[in-house]
Amino acid sequence: MHSLDIFRHYDRGHWRLAEFSLDGIDRSLVKPEYITLVKSAVMGESNVIAAVHGFMNEFIDDYDFSAFAVIWGYQEVQHHYAFTSYLEAVGESVDSRAVAAMRAPYEPGSTRSATLATNIISELTVNHVYRSVAAWVQEPVLADLLLRAGRDEAAHAREFRHYAAQRLRSHPDELASVLETLYFYTADEKIKHPVSVFKSGLDALSGHETIDTGFQLFLDRMAAHGELDALQSKIRRTFGGLTDLDLSSNGKVRRALAGALG
Ligand SMILES: [Fe+2]
Ligand SMILES: [Fe+2]
Repeated sequence: MHSLDIFRHYDRGHWRLAEFSLDGIDRSLVKPEYITLVKSAVMGESNVIAAVHGFMNEFIDDYDFSAFAVIWGYQEVQHHYAFTSYLEAVGESVDSRAVAAMRAPYEPGSTRSATLATNIISELTVNHVYRSVAAWVQEPVLADLLLRAGRDEAAHAREFRHYAAQRLRSHPDELASVLETLYFYTADEKIKHPVSVFKSGLDALSGHETIDTGFQLFLDRMAAHGELDALQSKIRRTFGGLTDLDLSSNGKVRRALAGALG
């Protein structure tokens, strides 16, 4: 099973929260924007439980993918609690009611391939943001944490891509749902992330930081010109490799979708 390879890989080399010397945080370098970003990261990462619950429901007959989802879930909990620990160390916190509001499971996607495709986009997006923010952040402990989490998200994207490719080989009829997912998330001039699509508008979140607060700050303050284009191109390239189609522009995605539907 592929999840055994993943388990071995993680077991050999994965970082641990205990390696972080949170006492070593240089508080004089912690800017208010960093706190907003970390709170936003906590809110995004806290969706892991809803996602694992959704995967368990949707992939009820797929042991290998379910095992991967559990391993993946552990790492996302690690991100959630690593960012939470960082906040604690600098005397900040996230409202636990806002985190609790993230608990309800995700509904199944239109197809399993669409669910896997959505998660590829989610991982690529967070990887991109964490990596860029790590280069901008001057406080070294936070920069290190962002880099490690960012590398994990890149690995997660590769694993979701593996399972999506496998699923598409056995269910080629699900191709249109993958292209629809790609189009939905990359056709606009903004960062669209599954967590905000599915979990916005909850009462417990009003006035609280959400994952969108972080994305907006990212785009406003620190993203070099063309950052969104770079992210969307990377997502289109990944889907091009996954589907063996030329998806290098929005127009091409639309045409491929029309072809898959027709
Ligand atoms: Fe994460
Ligand atoms: Fe991830």
